[in-house]
Amino acid sequence: MPLPIAVLISGSGSNLQAIIDRIESGAIEAKIVLVASSAPGAFGLTRAAGRGIPTRTIAPEHFCSRDEYDQALLDAVTAAGARAIVLAGFMRILGPRFVRAFPQRILNIHPALLPSFAGTHGARDAAAYGVKISGCTVHFVDEEMDHGPVVVQAAVPALDADTAETLAARVLALEHRIYPQAVAWLAAGRLCVNGRKVTLAGADTPLAAVEPGAAYLVNPPLEQGF
Ligand code: GAR
Repeated sequence: MPLPIAVLISGSGSNLQAIIDRIESGAIEAKIVLVASSAPGAFGLTRAAGRGIPTRTIAPEHFCSRDEYDQALLDAVTAAGARAIVLAGFMRILGPRFVRAFPQRILNIHPALLPSFAGTHGARDAAAYGVKISGCTVHFVDEEMDHGPVVVQAAVPALDADTAETLAARVLALEHRIYPQAVAWLAAGRLCVNGRKVTLAGADTPLAAVEPGAAYLVNPPLEQGF
């Protein structure tokens, strides 16, 4: 039985697209029951509609308080039958009302190696800081921003010739691989959370599998198809 998920977006939706593609290829056992955008006209809405996925725009400026906004979002995902939530470039902070409704059932992707460079401009901030290695993080969402338990991280080199844009693009390409993988693990019920520690059921990763022989390091390692 595919896991019914709602995907929340604010923009282009390239991560949404990567997840749609892996669902369609059969690599993720999930069904997207709703794509909700905080921004009217977000391109991700067009991507979803093109695949026959129901869409909604729920814009915070239409609500008097964050709590009312949270309730509207919660009503929408609940009515759609979602049992897990995937934040894919969703540039709003979810309040306690929403987060508490889906304990350890909300994933987020962040374009930096958390806890470094949390916030709205993770990729840009990492580049401006002059890091030599950057990357991306998929984590469970808790009530603090960019803070919940880490599911998977992937590292990429920051090159001397990089601009903020080229580094962000290198990170984004890796987001498109690790996020679908994380959603697949969630849908398969394989993510075990114990405090801040997330472990992957049924995985026994030898150290050699994560040693950085190549330019990229991903831990846990991706499985075939991602
Ligand atoms: C992605 O890089 C994602 O990591 C980032 O926004 C971009 C959305 O791209 N999210 C955040 O910064 C959240 N704090 P997309 O709309 O093409 O998937």
